[in-house]
Amino acid sequence: MLADALQSRSIDVSASLDAVALKRLFPGSVRDIWLEIGFGGGEHLVWQVANNPHVGVIGAEPYLNGVVAAMDALVARELSERVRLYADDVLALLQALPPESLARAFMLFPDPWPKKRHRERRLFSAHLLDELAPLLRPGAEFRFASDIDDYAEAAIEAARAHPAFDIAQVFTTENRDALPDWPVTRYEQKARREGRGATFLVLQRVIEPSRT
Ligand SMILES: C[S@@+](CC[C@H](N)C(=O)[O-])C[C@H]1O[C@@H](n2cnc3c(N)ncnc32)[C@H](O)[C@@H]1O
Repeated sequence: MLADALQSRSIDVSASLDAVALKRLFPGSVRDIWLEIGFGGGEHLVWQVANNPHVGVIGAEPYLNGVVAAMDALVARELSERVRLYADDVLALLQALPPESLARAFMLFPDPWPKKRHRERRLFSAHLLDELAPLLRPGAEFRFASDIDDYAEAAIEAARAHPAFDIAQVFTTENRDALPDWPVTRYEQKARREGRGATFLVLQRVIEPSRT
């Protein structure tokens, strides 16, 4: 059952998907498609699927134990039909998705790479924004969180500099509960246990990106 689901609920990116082919991957009741990048064990992804019955979610996560744990939870809760998982680097997935196909995206607590010499390995970057922007519908949210201050600052800077994104909201651990549809992830819990607060960003794909 789990093995079948892992196979049938995976997404093939060997060829680009057009809008019709992407829609066909999900049941007819799905109105919007969301993307979660680096879902870890899948707790947040499962919560969003369970609480948004008209949403289909694509998850990208190269950590195989996480993919298996997420699919196991989805199958147990009979939610797997509305999910497609990609067990590899999200950048390859982004190449295959059609323009303006995503109504929301999440990147929560990406690997921190705290050492200066490793910063170029950080997943949230101007390049990632360039790749993601055309896939988001105008007005779509892109939610990001990090417990590493200089990562959050760099994310704010990159978003500010990017013509296709506005920063709609910024929260900290103290007021993050203002967003009731943003459950605490496993990594956020770990950061809290270790005494680290976090920054939460809601970016918005602008309606008309400036061409300057
Ligand atoms: C620190 S964990 C956070 C997991 C989860 N979002 C949470 O908050 O508990 C970062 C996750 O990003 C995943 N990741 C790293 N590089 C990635 C990539 N290129 N594409 C997609 N996910 C990636 C890692 O495998 C890891 O599971």
